[in-house]
Amino acid sequence: MPRQTRINSQKIYDKLCQVIPGGVNSPVRSCKGVEQLPMVVERGFQDLIYDADGHSYIDFCGSWGALIHGHAHPAILAAATAKMALGTSFGITTEIEEQIANKVVGLIDSVDKIRFVSSGTEATMSAVRLARGYTARDMIVKFDGNFHGHADFFLVRAGSGVLELNQTASSAGIPDTLVQETISLPYNNEEVCKAFLLDPMNRNKIAAVILEPVAANMGVVPATDSFIKMLRSVTEEIGALLIFDEVITGFRVALGGAQAMYGVKPDLTCFGKIIGGGFPAAAFGGRKDIMDCLAPLGSVYQAGTLSGNPVAMAAGLEALTLLQQDNFYENLERKTKILTGPIQDYLEAHPNLQVCLQERGSMFTLFFGMRKVLNVAEAQQSDAKLYGKFFRYLFDNGVYIAPLQWESWFVSNVHTEENLLKTRNLVLTFLENEM
Ligand SMILES: Cc1ncc(COP(=O)(O)O)c(C=O)c1O
Repeated sequence: MPRQTRINSQKIYDKLCQVIPGGVNSPVRSCKGVEQLPMVVERGFQDLIYDADGHSYIDFCGSWGALIHGHAHPAILAAATAKMALGTSFGITTEIEEQIANKVVGLIDSVDKIRFVSSGTEATMSAVRLARGYTARDMIVKFDGNFHGHADFFLVRAGSGVLELNQTASSAGIPDTLVQETISLPYNNEEVCKAFLLDPMNRNKIAAVILEPVAANMGVVPATDSFIKMLRSVTEEIGALLIFDEVITGFRVALGGAQAMYGVKPDLTCFGKIIGGGFPAAAFGGRKDIMDCLAPLGSVYQAGTLSGNPVAMAAGLEALTLLQQDNFYENLERKTKILTGPIQDYLEAHPNLQVCLQERGSMFTLFFGMRKVLNVAEAQQSDAKLYGKFFRYLFDNGVYIAPLQWESWFVSNVHTEENLLKTRNLVLTFLENEM
């Protein structure tokens, strides 16, 4: 049965639409951007997912980057099930929290102390509250096209599915008063950003500057080295905190995160995705003097029933431990290059083709309609319609990628060479025949 014939998936989706808005619990899953019936998944194993009609797909979405070890990794399953047998949730401290906290502190140079939460949204929202409490200032600076979850004050010119809404304010339902202290500046534009941060009207008001060091929610757009270094030195100069949102890049681009790659120490860092080993866990951490402002030690309140959930902590700890295997990142990047190397070569040999592949480590985006993308204004000029055609072509041939142009592909450590080659050949055939 061809993959476009998905009778069971259609039935399930129709029923979902009766009880869940748009049939989905997170908007991009609806596949609106690529104009087709959403994927309804039944199970996943290693680098494959299977839909409700029994079709298999090579998965490059990987739960939006969380599954660096692929689906149903046996060691992660074993750690989680062993913990689960002892009780799934207490809302009381358990020892595994100390083990994973020390693991992260050992791996991430800038983190002296850490607190666990349940989602990336909670991590960024809490880090900003902490920055405001610590500095006794209100203004937050973010960057156009960066996405930090869906807390009210972040939804100003945000990336990811928000880009699909195509409106100035990023979401309805947010009072002006909640976003008036959020300033969104152009990513990678040193001159404009530096001038804003140093302006006497602003410099004493800014609590924090938050960014995705490698933006992945307008497609993959790495910050330039000098942009990051400028932000570090200027925030220090004006007494604002520098927050790295490493929900995607943490443990993805390097064991020490994007901060290790850039050689810059932020004051606070947000983690998510990989840190939970495929379970709902996230965290924020950083300098001890800042982290100690959190209740119960300090006056910045932050809490959660499921924070530090033992099953998620066990899965996360195992996932992080697996990353410490010899040459893990070298292997991951070698695998990624099997896929991206020949595509880059092809694009180089065809300079008139309006496509580019932007990559960092095991994450990358193919932008249609562009030869280079440095910021969200350029990302939005890419050809989302052509991306839709590309998505459907890969889907029909058994490859699943993010159903939106402005997202990333994620390669896992368990993608087989055979599946990487198959995917690479499909992409090259598309570029040769369909463009
Ligand atoms: C960089 C970044 N920060 C924060 C978030 C929010 O994380 P969550 O979806 O777990 O709330 C995301 C989600 O994709 C993200 O990509």
